[in-house]
Amino acid sequence: MAQPKVLLTRRWPEAIEARLGEVFDLTVSRDDLPLDAEQLKAALRDYDAVLPTVTDRLSAPIFDLTNPRTKILGNFGVGFSHIDLTAASACGIAVTNTPDVLSECTADLAMTLLLMVARRAGEGERELRNGKWTGWRPTHMIGKKVSGATLGIVGFGRIGQAMARRAHFGFGMKIVVQNIPAVAPEILAEFGAEQVDSIDELLPRCDFVSLHCPGGTENHHLIDARRLGLMKPDGCLINTARGEVIDQQALAQALWFGTIGGAGLDVFEGEPDIPYALLGADSLVMLPHLGSATRETRDAMGLRVMENLVAFFEGREPRDRVN
Ligand code: DGY
Repeated sequence: MAQPKVLLTRRWPEAIEARLGEVFDLTVSRDDLPLDAEQLKAALRDYDAVLPTVTDRLSAPIFDLTNPRTKILGNFGVGFSHIDLTAASACGIAVTNTPDVLSECTADLAMTLLLMVARRAGEGERELRNGKWTGWRPTHMIGKKVSGATLGIVGFGRIGQAMARRAHFGFGMKIVVQNIPAVAPEILAEFGAEQVDSIDELLPRCDFVSLHCPGGTENHHLIDARRLGLMKPDGCLINTARGEVIDQQALAQALWFGTIGGAGLDVFEGEPDIPYALLGADSLVMLPHLGSATRETRDAMGLRVMENLVAFFEGREPRDRVN
């Protein structure tokens, strides 16, 4: 049987590209730029499998094709709010993601942001590099204590739990959780965590709030001006989930007027464009979507896609099918 024709929309770790090339008739989009709508449609027409990432916007019109050749989209990433699952299913296209393998590194990065915001690490580094540091003094760049503080976690799946593990066992933080559906009592007990019924209940109680829920329309602007107003005046918001979960204009306003303590963002609505209002906010730490960006994790993500693809073309159900 001929090898399935597979398209990588972006460059992947070299070793994984090589392994995919041994098993499939592989094409790599070598210029490593996001594909536009026409290129994505052409890909669905011409390849048995397309392996997209978060930068490929596979919205409903892209699937408006008669008889696409593509039978599986093996997404390189756990989040899949950039893929219209209903439209993919209507075309008979399976969609898979890469859970588990990136939970640790994404939680590491969320903790990095939390610590940076709390201890004003971005501001401090800017001051030093700009030659503005005048030396140690008791009142200089005073931050917020992390150890023993209360952390609210919105979305208590794999990454949320990995964050709780770091915060609770590493920093003695108290954990408050909001999740739909209710979390099993034995999982909450592992972190001494308390579950609340709503985000509105969680926000006023927490010194730090970290978002680990899915993106997409269901959580669009989940954190808006009203909810930002429920946070403690020195509360800090961390987002390593998806940019659309936060109303960025409302966040910029909260940061500029100092109605919250600070924020740390790894993801943005409309990334890589960053609103001007966020760029100048001093109490904001920003990273360019680095959650899963370690050698080990990116290799593991690639292998996980490959495992799904091999299963699919051998006629088995891929373990990470999401539609
Ligand atoms: C993920 O895995 O969802 C990362 O954010 C990259 O898409």
